[in-house]
Amino acid sequence: MCGIVGYIGRDQASPVLLEALRKLEYRGYDSGGIAVVEENEKLQVRKIKGRLSNLDLLVSQQPVQGTCGIGHTRWATHGEPSDVNSHPHTDVSGKIAVVHNGIIENHASLREWLEKHHVVFRSQTDSEVIAHLVDFHYNGDLLLAVRETVKRLDGSYAIAVICEDFPGMLVVVRKDSPLVIGRADSYNLIASDVPPLLCHTREVQYLNDLELALLTKDEVTIYNLEGEVQQREIVHIDWDIEAAEKCGYEHFMLKEIFEQPKALHDTLFSRIKDGKIVLNAKIKEALVHCNHLLITGCGTAYHAGMVAKYVIEHFAMVSVEVDIASELRYRTPLCKAGDVCILISQSGETADTIACLRLLKSLGVVTIALTNVVGSTISREADLVMYTQAGPEIAVASTKALTTQLMCLYVIALVMAKKETGALLEQLMLIPSQAQLLLDKQEDIQRFAARQFNKDKVFFMGRLTDYAISLESALKLKEISYTHSESFAAGELKHGPIALVDESTLVVAMCTQPLLFAKMDSNIKEVKARGATALAITFDMVQDFNATADEVFRIPTTEPYFSPMLTVIVSQLYAYYCSVLKGNDPDKPRNLAKSVTVE
Ligand code: G6P
Repeated sequence: MCGIVGYIGRDQASPVLLEALRKLEYRGYDSGGIAVVEENEKLQVRKIKGRLSNLDLLVSQQPVQGTCGIGHTRWATHGEPSDVNSHPHTDVSGKIAVVHNGIIENHASLREWLEKHHVVFRSQTDSEVIAHLVDFHYNGDLLLAVRETVKRLDGSYAIAVICEDFPGMLVVVRKDSPLVIGRADSYNLIASDVPPLLCHTREVQYLNDLELALLTKDEVTIYNLEGEVQQREIVHIDWDIEAAEKCGYEHFMLKEIFEQPKALHDTLFSRIKDGKIVLNAKIKEALVHCNHLLITGCGTAYHAGMVAKYVIEHFAMVSVEVDIASELRYRTPLCKAGDVCILISQSGETADTIACLRLLKSLGVVTIALTNVVGSTISREADLVMYTQAGPEIAVASTKALTTQLMCLYVIALVMAKKETGALLEQLMLIPSQAQLLLDKQEDIQRFAARQFNKDKVFFMGRLTDYAISLESALKLKEISYTHSESFAAGELKHGPIALVDESTLVVAMCTQPLLFAKMDSNIKEVKARGATALAITFDMVQDFNATADEVFRIPTTEPYFSPMLTVIVSQLYAYYCSVLKGNDPDKPRNLAKSVTVE
């Protein structure tokens, strides 16, 4: 989704802004732009459709001078990707510039009202109304003008505003859209996410909804909508710069796949003391007394929830309901006070998951956020929070965030099952090194992808946790390779999906449930009989499937219900290599965004 950045300090703003925008590229975008102000000079805007290299070129041909500026990467919602629809947008006189991430829901009525006041619009965007409204309310006080503007906006927004009358001032405001302030020595910055700030500072501040901040090079003052000053602590971010760089890997996605052994280790072992799982006391209290657990999230995070349902019901015998956040928020929720909900979100900023959080809280449900981002909206608004120790995840396709979410959910399952020590935990503790063993064999998957990447259709099938991870595997493959991929509960094959199977189909059978090996073997025979190529993924001790599948890939043997953390690494690598072999950029898949902050 759109990314916004801002800088105010002593140095030239444009190189800082362009570099910061590059660090937000992963969010997905179709155009970019910057605006800069300088003492006694006119405000200057450079914006252009397409990749940031277009903007770099434009700025090198038509440089902008100034030590205060804002920047934007746009992901089109209202109006096609074009130079004119790119941000920053300016008021009619061109002295106020605005960048916006989010959606202004009442933009049509505001536009009509502004047009009646003789404002001539240049773009088709919802965001342009903000620039004109700030101008309408501007009477020499920029902060007041932004405050008055915000009172008229419905929807979600992170907004940054500069004005040529105040070259030493940057005003920002947010509601339901992420915005982080970075505090450095003699300069300050803002960004939609932490990575652009890391090469400047690790000291950050978060705005709450409907709060504004006034930044100068030396100060940051936070206000509420009534204009009262708000105190806000400075949060230290542990992530180091290398964590947000490629470090020699061709793509962030590959780097993040290979970071999984460490991320899994950090996530698990930070919760083990003297050979026993130690969970935050309040989270444990909520979970062990819960009779009905609800889990929600979107995309990959939802799939983590799907796995957890099987695992928690199997080990802890507690009923678990999983739903996609965009569904849960609109259906009739049969929740009552005292129920517990785990909301899973890598970014902690996904609009539908946040909406569920607020809805469930209003119903008295105890909410536990499972997120990767300290200070994210979900982490601040949930009753309780559990962090994955994945480090920053930059690639759009989620990998290490998923496996660390799973690790947290396994920890939860063992606590709910009152198995904080013992054989299961010992198995779990082996998973990080088993993930490494699997990655050491990655060339086998690369070679398999080289043979199979051109299949028209790829179907993943499995039973129980293998079905849940099939959903994630199909998602990963379609996201970055654009191959038509689907997932099926293997028992459903005969009820429809088998009609699609022919010689152009690759079927990946996830086979890690020993009690169901015979059933999976039959399913493989069924698809083979229709001409499909079949790959079976199973444990290294297992000899089944040799006779039926065309190829068998073996993962280290573990407790069958723990296998998703390993099988999914095979699917991640397969999707990655298919994407590269097809000439795609796996880090920037078409039409997708890392963080879906609007509905
Ligand atoms: C987007 C991303 C997915 C992610 C989903 C949920 O669709 O492309 O990779 O799984 O959002 O994101 P969240 O940050 O809430 O986990």
